[in-house]
Amino acid sequence: MYLFVHEDREYLLAPGERFESDLGILEVPEDVAPGDVVETHLGTAFTVRRLRGPDLFAHLERTGAPMMPRDVGLVVGKTGVAAGDRVLDAGTGTGILSAYMGRMGTEVVTYEIDPDFADVARNNMETAGVANSVEVRTGDVTDDLDELSGFDVVTLDTEDAPAVVERTPTLLSRGGSLAVYSPFVENTREVVAAAREVGLYGIETLDTIQREMDFDDRGSRPSTGGVGHTGYLTFARRP
Ligand SMILES: C[S@@+](CC[C@H](N)C(=O)[O-])C[C@H]1O[C@@H](n2cnc3c(N)ncnc32)[C@H](O)[C@@H]1O
Repeated sequence: MYLFVHEDREYLLAPGERFESDLGILEVPEDVAPGDVVETHLGTAFTVRRLRGPDLFAHLERTGAPMMPRDVGLVVGKTGVAAGDRVLDAGTGTGILSAYMGRMGTEVVTYEIDPDFADVARNNMETAGVANSVEVRTGDVTDDLDELSGFDVVTLDTEDAPAVVERTPTLLSRGGSLAVYSPFVENTREVVAAAREVGLYGIETLDTIQREMDFDDRGSRPSTGGVGHTGYLTFARRP
């Protein structure tokens, strides 16, 4: 799939697809490639672009609330997740975090308990071009903990994350990193308690708040709208 862009319009289309809008009919050539310009039958030009991370956030089909790119950035920076790493992720949800990590060259095993969400996530991984490196498993991650071990990074975005954190001494390889996203502070407290209980080190929780800046003729100031706080991210490592 590629992004077809005309001014503020963006459409996700596949080679060979036929797409109709008020700008005309777009017949996508089978051999379309990034950088091409294709026109609708009314002569409106669309530029063809490869998808990048923020495009996935904007255009993948949404199920579980997707992690925002800025929080993905924090996960990447704090865990140091990098090409060649084996990553355990749960739950998959829309698959934004998994797709970003897959695009970085990691091997991701991600669990999604809802079978319909898992199907959507598999399609999303195809769209993101990471179906070969992100394996979406349908099921409850807590059911498989006995069979999972030796991951470089574990990323969790589920209510029952504390139960998985308790198993990080086997889930993580030595020096491996844990990242847990929680929307609520109560759940975060349980995550921290579990991490302490099993002897992880470098335990740190960040309240992820960012303010977007507005620049206009009157002056510059932080935006008065939009989402400032998204959630809490807890990081820790296995000794
Ligand atoms: C908030 S979403 C995750 C979003 C994801 N991090 C992303 O970036 O798109 C949480 C997902 O976890 C799934 N889930 C909850 N508990 C689970 C469990 N124990 N095992 C597997 N998936 C689970 C839910 O069905 C939901 O789709």
